Order: sequence, then structure tokens, then C-alpha cells
Amino acid sequence: HHGVHVEKESWSFQGFFGKFDKAQLQRGFQVYNEVCAACHSLDLVHYRNLTEIGLTEAQVKEVAAAVTVVDAMPDENGDPVERPGLPSDPFKAPFANEQAARASNNGALPPDLSLIARSRAGAGFGAHEGADYLHGLLTGYQEPPAGFELADGMQYNEGFLGFQIAMPNPLSDGGVTYADGTEATVDQQARDVSAFLTWAGEPNYENRIYTGMKAMLFLIVFTLIAYAVKRRVWAKIH
Ligand code: HEM
Repeated sequence: HHGVHVEKESWSFQGFFGKFDKAQLQRGFQVYNEVCAACHSLDLVHYRNLTEIGLTEAQVKEVAAAVTVVDAMPDENGDPVERPGLPSDPFKAPFANEQAARASNNGALPPDLSLIARSRAGAGFGAHEGADYLHGLLTGYQEPPAGFELADGMQYNEGFLGFQIAMPNPLSDGGVTYADGTEATVDQQARDVSAFLTWAGEPNYENRIYTGMKAMLFLIVFTLIAYAVKRRVWAKIH
């Protein structure tokens, strides 16, 4: 984790019986959509994927239609055609390209967040460690300690390598108003968006664990049956 200290949080989706909490994922989407999406793309997620976290088809259409995208097909003169987003579109990126993204961020590049949780997590089943990291980062903004040299345009963040980050503190208490009425503290928003980004990077995270569990159960049952059969077969022989 880049040498920074990361607090272990408790996540609904961690462990053998873990499951994403859809209400939390929806709140996390709200935070991403209203706050993070101003600077970060989420290229690998399509609007239609939001049905997987419990949005209705109608809600997905509404979310997609709120953005204007350039269709892959130009018009007959070869000019780009703008249209409202569709459920089949990938999430709209805030900037046209890297230069535009850097120009708006003091030269720094806000990374695409599609795989950020996975890429900041440990190996194997530890995907929730990515969520720990994200939560620590988003709640890690502080006044720099006396004598700390903070470069121009940088913020002090104890959850980030080197403790200085070009990302301004994106969260504030009440910065979003949750549709489900949950109180939007910084900690709550950090928790929810970290869960959402874990889901975004590994939509099949829980399936993977359950599939592993089923395989283990199968192997145990199979071994017991094989043993019982072996005893029966050999019982006749002496
Ligand atoms: C970097 C998440 C909002 C600008 C990052 C990183 C993450 C992240 C995970 C990478 C940290 C690392 O390398 O480990 C988020 C989330 C947001 C959010 C979850 C919403 C809650 C924003 C906003 C802006 C922004 C609104 C612009 C105003 C940046 C920039 C970087 C960055 C410029 C690169 C920082 C550096 O390399 O020093 N963000 N971000 N982010 N973010 Fe955000």
C-alpha cells in the first residue's frame, strides 16, 4: 500500500459469506456521480450495469440520458453527432483526453477509477483491501504537520504515498444529499464510494467467492462418497 498505514475497515462484502449491500452501492454511485465524476472516468462500467446494483431500467435510462455523448457514428457529412446517453453507453468521461484532464488538474492526471480498488488491494480474496485503501485516502486529508514542505497545489493526505496528493479533498459533510436519507458524513460517503468502486472493479467479486465455496463443498462431499464406496467395494474382498 505505498508504504502508508491503512486502517482495516469492516465491509459487508468481505469474507466467505460477504455480499455487497445494494443500498450502499447505490449511495456510492451517487457520490461517484455527483462528486468524483467531475474529474475521474469509469470507462469499464456501462450505465446498464447499474441494474446490477438495484436501479430500475427506467432509472438507468434517466441516469444515462442526463449526459450528452458523441455517437460512434458520424452524420453523412462526417461530422460528429451528439445525443443523450443510452444504457448501452460506457460512463461518460469528464475530459476528452489526457491533456485536457491535466490542464484542469494542475498538471496531475486523475486516474480512471474502473480498476482502482483492485489495483490498490492485496492478492487473492483480499479485494476488500482496496476499499480499505480508498476509504483511508478519502478520509486522510489533514493539516500538514509543522515543517512539512507542501508543494504548490498539493494537499497533505496521510493515506497517500509521500503524503502529498494533487487531488483536492473531494468530500465534505453533507456534500451530497442521499436519496435514501442516510446522513452524508465524510466517513459515510468515503465508505459508500469505496464499496461502489470495489463493485465497479469486480462486479463478480461475490460470485467468485461463492463459486470457490461450492467447489470446496463439492470436493469434500465427493471425497466422502469416494471413501464410502471404496470401503464397500473392498469389504467384499476379505
Ligand atoms: C487521484 C479517487 C474526486 C482529482 C485519485 C486516486 C483515487 C481518487 C483513488 C488515486 C490515488 C492513488 O494513486 O492511489 C477519487 C474519488 C473521488 C475523487 C473516490 C470522489 C469521491 C476527485 C475530484 C478531483 C480529483 C473531484 C478534481 C477536482 C484527482 C487527481 C488525482 C486523483 C488530480 C491525481 C493525484 C496525484 O497523482 O497526486 N482520486 N477522486 N479527484 N484525483 Fe481523485
